[in-house]
Amino acid sequence: MAVLVTGGAGYIGSAFVSELLAAGEQVVVLDDLSRGHRQAVDPRATFEQGRTGDQPLVARLVREHAIDACAHFAAFAYVGESVTEPARYYDNNFSQAAALFESLCQAGVRHVVFSSTCATYGVPKEVPIPEGHPQWPINPYGWSKLFVERLLADFDRAYGLRFVALRYFNAAGASARCGEAHEPETHLVPLVLEAAAGRRAHVTVFGNDYDTPDGTAIRDYIHIEDLGEAHLLALRHLRGGGASQFLNLGNGLGYSVLEVIETAQRVTGHAVPVLMGPRREGDPPRLVGNAARAREVLGWLPKRPQLEGIIRSAWEWMQAHPQGY
Ligand SMILES: NC(=O)c1ccc[n+]([C@@H]2O[C@H](COP(=O)([O-])OP(=O)(O)OC[C@H]3O[C@@H](n4cnc5c(N)ncnc54)[C@H](O)[C@@H]3O)[C@@H](O)[C@H]2O)c1
Repeated sequence: MAVLVTGGAGYIGSAFVSELLAAGEQVVVLDDLSRGHRQAVDPRATFEQGRTGDQPLVARLVREHAIDACAHFAAFAYVGESVTEPARYYDNNFSQAAALFESLCQAGVRHVVFSSTCATYGVPKEVPIPEGHPQWPINPYGWSKLFVERLLADFDRAYGLRFVALRYFNAAGASARCGEAHEPETHLVPLVLEAAAGRRAHVTVFGNDYDTPDGTAIRDYIHIEDLGEAHLLALRHLRGGGASQFLNLGNGLGYSVLEVIETAQRVTGHAVPVLMGPRREGDPPRLVGNAARAREVLGWLPKRPQLEGIIRSAWEWMQAHPQGY
């Protein structure tokens, strides 16, 4: 049996591939390299360059490798780009996923772990956000992910496809082999570290007049290895006959933008030049997840919740890979 990992050349998927291999699984990576890096894929995995919606390709991979489960990471994930190019987002994140899940069902694969997101909640009415919170995204990226959640629920009812949709908060940190190398980079931790390394003139803080202790926005950062572990547990849950689930993956610990910057300065020993800017439209003051259900259902507990450890791992990876991959 093998696990199909779509988007396995990307940031979170590539780290998960190594965790799967370490757990003794056979792994097939399907990635079109539109946003990922071939070098990020662990050489012990089988790599196939292609799109998730290529149904003959997926059928062949399932047949040739006896695939029984899929971890679906492949997607476009820039919120701003989704606003200016919604067609690409609905095509890549929704239509491609629909075609993939149809191929899997036709080939008899019934277990899917899906990378969903806290962006499906929109502006929170309650923090920490529980899974039952209303879902009303405020950008096409969030909608494209929410539509996939909907589709999975319908495929479960109609075709018996069982899934765990994991709603990640902010993925951060690095494993020994895999780190964050997005182009362009929009995530706070790598941006701050690039400024610490002198590769970026400054970091812009969007808003310092929020109703938070230091006035800057608070986010929930979760280490990619903790995300990977949750995926392993989700696979085990599905293979053990567990029911479909929607689960938050976050620390439940929020850190402000200024805390991230101060921690990065301490970890790196370098100053991070900061430019104060206005708030961005649609940026809530606090986005923190309640991950109690993931603990109940999967037995998952983040092992690396502290910001300092998350930032240190990202810094070490950056030092070892100054040019990215
Ligand atoms: N990074 C985060 O903080 C975060 C938070 C919440 C959810 N997520 C979700 O987690 C997943 C992984 O995020 P990431 O940060 O690793 O992104 P990433 O861009 O680093 O990785 C995505 C990978 O998917 C590939 N890909 C995209 N569309 C494809 C397609 N149609 N067919 C084949 N390959 C395709 C890309 O080449 C890339 O390697 C995404 O689904 C994202 O929406 C990420």
